[in-house]
This record gives sequence, structure tokens and C-alpha cells, in this order.
Amino acid sequence: MSAMQKIVVLGATSEIAQQVQRVLARQGWEFLLVARSTARLSAVAADLRSRGAKQVIEYTADLADISRHTQLMAFVQERFPDFDCVLLAYGTMQDPEQCRHSVELSLREWDTNFVSAAALLTLFADVLEQKGAGCIAAITSVAGDRGRSSNYVYGAAKGALNIFLQGLRGRLYGSHVRVLTIKPGPVTTPMTAGLRQEKMFAAPAAVARDICRALDSSSRKEILYTPFYWRYVMAILKLIPERIFKRLTI
Ligand SMILES: NC(=O)c1ccc[n+]([C@@H]2O[C@H](COP(=O)([O-])OP(=O)(O)OC[C@H]3O[C@@H](n4cnc5c(N)ncnc54)[C@H](OP(=O)(O)O)[C@@H]3O)[C@@H](O)[C@H]2O)c1
Repeated sequence: MSAMQKIVVLGATSEIAQQVQRVLARQGWEFLLVARSTARLSAVAADLRSRGAKQVIEYTADLADISRHTQLMAFVQERFPDFDCVLLAYGTMQDPEQCRHSVELSLREWDTNFVSAAALLTLFADVLEQKGAGCIAAITSVAGDRGRSSNYVYGAAKGALNIFLQGLRGRLYGSHVRVLTIKPGPVTTPMTAGLRQEKMFAAPAAVARDICRALDSSSRKEILYTPFYWRYVMAILKLIPERIFKRLTI
């Protein structure tokens, strides 16, 4: 069994996060769960307790509100000081067509998916660096690997988060804190409910299994594509010259 067993989940009501938490609960992990809806968070926490989770602490916050972050960190330090892993799972994917023409919506998308995420991870990085151990894991997306006309506003935020995590990994190199970038392809969750579910959509439980394997303290993974074949799909997409790529309606 893994030695790392206390996790803070930021966005614990996300479908992918819920599936991850269920697997970790079976493995005996303890949880501090953060989400913005108290009612949904209580239901998720109750579900984990019914599955045998030993400790589940709940905290409600709108994580895009950076002014709440210091208070959240104080709560984590007081109630869950021995945590050794943080998983950033929250995010939004607004209608891409509307985002293209709305500065307000785009700013909201970037604030949620990048600005607040990087702000939070800065605070967690300092704490884990001081401990000299642990794992910072964040769910970004294959959408952040290359700007596509279909969803570049969302992709820009995830791409920025990828770069942030890459730099953070370098900063924490030598401090025994692992930085794990998680890049799922399309997954069948509430976030994608409005999209046509094509063959490339993965089940959240399958993605969660990959994530849990990578979270295990015996894993040395730093960049996880899930399902695995997205590593190859994106490698090919990144090789297409820009003059051809810009003509593709993907
Ligand atoms: N589904 C996909 O195809 C896919 C692919 C690649 C990456 N991802 C990423 O995977 C992560 C999880 O998404 P999911 O697929 O599991 O979708 P989901 O079930 O819709 O989860 C998104 C979660 O983010 C939470 N959230 C949004 N804004 C928040 C805020 N300001 N403060 C706190 N929580 C907030 C939502 O809370 P509420 O329930 O309260 O709205 C929800 O729990 C996201 O980062 C997403 O970008 C998803």
C-alpha cells in the first residue's frame, strides 16, 4: 500500500475527482475535500464514509475567489496538517462559441482554470516544500497542448497551467515534492454533457484508475496522459505545421 495517504482535493465534487476519491477510499486514504456547493460536498463526503473512508473533512469555498485562499490554507494547516498530497480538480468549460466573442466570459474561464489554480498551488507548494515531501497533482487537459479553433479560450488556460506546473516541477526539484500534470482527453462527465459523445470519450472511472496509479507514492510519473493513447495523438497533432493546422476545424 502507498505511504502517501492524506489528500486535499480542490474541486471534490467533480465527477473525475469523485471517482478518484472512491478508489483512494478503498486504499485507506484520508481526505480534506473542498468544493463550492455545501450540499453536494456533504453528499460526496457521506458516500466516501459509507465506503469506509476513515477521515473526511469538508470545506466549502468558491475556489475562483482568490481572497478566500489564505483562509482555506489556514484551515488545512489547522485541521489536516499532515497532508502529503493535493489534487486540483476543479474547472469549467464554458460554451466555446460564446467565449470567442465575450471578454467577460473568457476572463472568467481564465480566472477559474488558470489564475486561481496557480494562486492556490503557489500556497500549497510553499507548505509542501517546507515539509520536504509530497505530491502536487493538477488536472489540466490535452486541450492545453495546442490551440485549436474549437476551444482555444479553455485551452489557453489549461496550457498556461501546464507551463506553470512545468516551472513548479523545476523549482521543487530536489525538495522531494513531485509535481504531477494530468492531461485527460475527453471524458464523459457533467462538463461535457452538452457535447456529442464520440468514441474518443473515456469513462471517468477509467481515467480515475490512471490518476490513482500515478498518485501512488511509488510512482515517479510527472506527466500523465489519460487514457494513455492521448500522448501519441497529441504528439502527432503537435507535429502538424501551423499553416496546415490553422485550416483544420478541430
Ligand atoms: N470532462 C472532460 O472531458 C475533461 C477533459 C480534460 C480535462 N478535464 C478537467 O477535469 C477537471 C474535472 O472536470 P470533470 O470532467 O470532472 O467535470 P465536472 O464534473 O463538471 O467537475 C467540475 C468541477 O469543478 C467545480 N468548480 C467549478 N468552478 C469552481 C469554483 N469556482 N470553485 C470550486 N469548484 C468549482 C464544479 O463544482 P460545481 O459542481 O459546484 O459546479 C465541479 O465540481 C476539470 O479541471 C476539467 O477541466 C475534463
